[in-house]
Amino acid sequence: MPAPYIAPSILAADYTALGEDIKKIDNADWIHVDIMDGHFVPNLSFGPDVTAAVDGITDKHLDVHIMIEEPEKWIDTYIKAGADTIIFHVEATDDHVALAKDIRSKGVRSGFAIKPGTAIEPYLDDLEHFDEVIVMSVEPGFGGQKFMPEMLEKVRTLRKAIDERGLDVTIEIDGGINESTIAEAAEAGVDAFVAGSAVFGKDDPAAAVEKLRELAQQ
Ligand code: DX5
Ligand code: ZN
Repeated sequence: MPAPYIAPSILAADYTALGEDIKKIDNADWIHVDIMDGHFVPNLSFGPDVTAAVDGITDKHLDVHIMIEEPEKWIDTYIKAGADTIIFHVEATDDHVALAKDIRSKGVRSGFAIKPGTAIEPYLDDLEHFDEVIVMSVEPGFGGQKFMPEMLEKVRTLRKAIDERGLDVTIEIDGGINESTIAEAAEAGVDAFVAGSAVFGKDDPAAAVEKLRELAQQ
């Protein structure tokens, strides 16, 4: 499947009807699962059991974004729970390359995420070890925040580095993506778009996914 990939975040779903909400977005490409530990970020979301429950009711690609301390300790747990891509934060580990190799050695796509205050330049030479990079366009920890357009400069730098090196690394943007911000993100070179409140906050999540895909393809 070619880009753009629309990845609704279940952080914004109705937890009293998570299965129904996931079925509503059957036209989405991926499901973005936001794992938060209350330490790396000031919020606690859900863990491996919810991830496994989601994996049990859908064949969709699970894009598991782990916003946790000591991610090394949790890789096997999230692989077992059904993660297809595991994206950890570079700010939470002192050896992102070793972690990427570990994830890939187990047949799962490796990804790193960077917070708004983290520069992308120090990681460009390590891109070959990764299948995906998440550029955070909000401070991680909560859905429904305002998009930070200045993060698109980081996307452009990343896009250039990936294309120059002829790599196959997916650029994903995460935070504040909606109908009025997705086009500029696509223009900057984003392949995958996380959308939580812009999908599950709507009366018709499937229509929201369709509209976002349309706007990303322009
Ligand atoms: C924030 C999460 C995002 C968030 C996106 O820490 O990583 O994935 O759920 O939510 P929206 O799309 O509402 O900004
Ligand atoms: Zn996320």
